[in-house]
Amino acid sequence: MRRFDMKSDWDARAGDDAHKAIACDDAQNEAAFRASGERDVQLVLEGVSEILEAHQSALEIGCGTGRLLEPLARHFQQVFGVDVSGEMVRRGRERLAHLPQVHLVEIDGLGKLPFRDESFDFCFSYITFHHIPIKSVVRSYISETHRVLKPAGVARWHFFGRPAGILASIRESVTHKDTWRGCKFTLSEISAAVRVAGFEIVDAHYVPAQSWRLFGKTPPDIIWITARKSDHAARPVSPASK
Ligand SMILES: C[S@@+](CC[C@H](N)C(=O)[O-])C[C@H]1O[C@@H](n2cnc3c(N)ncnc32)[C@H](O)[C@@H]1O
Repeated sequence: MRRFDMKSDWDARAGDDAHKAIACDDAQNEAAFRASGERDVQLVLEGVSEILEAHQSALEIGCGTGRLLEPLARHFQQVFGVDVSGEMVRRGRERLAHLPQVHLVEIDGLGKLPFRDESFDFCFSYITFHHIPIKSVVRSYISETHRVLKPAGVARWHFFGRPAGILASIRESVTHKDTWRGCKFTLSEISAAVRVAGFEIVDAHYVPAQSWRLFGKTPPDIIWITARKSDHAARPVSPASK
């Protein structure tokens, strides 16, 4: 793990141009950045409103400067974001100082979440996991998400995908990885990790890259997974109810 310094690399990107590191084509000015947050939060919430039972608290893993936390604050009473970069967190707190229900927290980026069990109704991550070069860190975030969700809470994650099969697997294993080009998962691999963490999968879909090229780059395959924590999850039994 020491091979990758996610914290320094993302602090440096935040210092150079935080909005470009977050939203690339939508970073020309604050208005475009904000509009992209409004647009992308719709993707994050797709299919979620129908199954979510409560809207008290939401958590984003890899929140950057809070591009998605801002529009999300209209849907939840309390909104938390965690990020490996202290610089992203500092800038996000400044941007969103007018929203007292939004909280940004710096973490070590190694897969643990600094919250009590059963704290959130909704947890998600968007355009972050594909930057993480260590698969066990992503798996740890998934099982930590299960821990911090309330019973019947909902999770939704965005990953970069790759096809199953030996050739694709060899290609992935020899592809250079760093804190920008992180790991890709097959649909069955990441679905298994979600089930092992204790979730029931509500929806999992694989969106293959189009065959056309975008400005000379091949767009990535995308995986979206929506999952729910059982509402029979162990709750502390109070002495009075025994
Ligand atoms: C492309 S930005 C996306 C920010 C936000 N999700 C959005 O859509 O506006 C990726 C973010 O993930 C954060 N990040 C990268 N590796 C991380 C890790 N291991 N743990 C937590 N955050 C991480 C980066 O600091 C950066 O802010």
